[in-house]
Amino acid sequence: MRMPLFRGMKPKRWGLIIVFVLVEGVLIYSIIRFRERPNSPAPKQIHGNNTLEIIWTVAPSLFLFAVLIGTIYTMFGLAQPAGPNVEVRVVGHQWWWEFDYVHENFKTADELVVPQGTTIQLDLESNNVIHSFWIPQLTGKTDVIPGHHNRMWFKADDLTTTPYRGECAEYCGSQHAHMDFNVTVLRQSDYMTWITTQQQAAAAKPTDPTALAGQQLFLGAGNCQGCHGIVGVNLQGFNDPKTQGLIGPNLTHFGSRRLIAGGVLSWDPSTCQVVNGKLVNQNSCGLYQWLHDPLGVKPGNDMVIGQLSDTQIAQLVAYLESLK
Ligand code: CUA
Repeated sequence: MRMPLFRGMKPKRWGLIIVFVLVEGVLIYSIIRFRERPNSPAPKQIHGNNTLEIIWTVAPSLFLFAVLIGTIYTMFGLAQPAGPNVEVRVVGHQWWWEFDYVHENFKTADELVVPQGTTIQLDLESNNVIHSFWIPQLTGKTDVIPGHHNRMWFKADDLTTTPYRGECAEYCGSQHAHMDFNVTVLRQSDYMTWITTQQQAAAAKPTDPTALAGQQLFLGAGNCQGCHGIVGVNLQGFNDPKTQGLIGPNLTHFGSRRLIAGGVLSWDPSTCQVVNGKLVNQNSCGLYQWLHDPLGVKPGNDMVIGQLSDTQIAQLVAYLESLK
């Protein structure tokens, strides 16, 4: 069943215009035609006219009853349809989104990928303040409230060529405007391939020497693993009990994502090429800017790191890029 309510909400403008013109026309005609003139007699009194009183009691009752039937019909239409669905737990952080594919056992950050034509059931929660989950092209807004689980569902009928942009629609602090996420709609078969890729652990040791140096930084002097997890490196799996203490996004497949920190910067590996241990053009690389000065780029966020040298950043970029 198609849901006109969630599809751009185009009002039936012509119907509204006809009703408006009719009602206003009769009103203006009556005001002019039946206005009081000098010496005009008192109007005809209709008090106590049972026929009229019955008509204007019964007619609106019938009309409201018809509206009630339409309302109930629509309410049933909005109930979640039966059949196969994908269940995603959505956690609003300050300021990024965590997507936990509960039955497939993996997590992403700021990237929601869904199969075409399938009911996507979302369980929304927040670990801090109130956010609001919104994909303008696909859904209405639903509040994401700490200590409370809100549920919603949607269905995407069309494949995406460029991802839809989802956003936070409730003021949640200084970086509320930087809490975006990408939504990609894939064919069922492509979606299954994506799932299989996301479930995999990262390589225990990258082969490229620069990336390997980046991994050592991640695990050691860079202090990254105090907040971030990579399955196969510092986590046994996506549900490793250690994830409880990690406040940053899981980075296992960071190389396949396209947003940094809720869209404050875009992450495009083609602008972040590392050759001989150096970034070819670090100023055009969003990930360089982020690792160089995360608090300058997004003041107030939780990513507090020491100053890294350009060589160290190039190593981290090479490593993160390898996490496809
Ligand atoms: Cu989260 Cu605004």
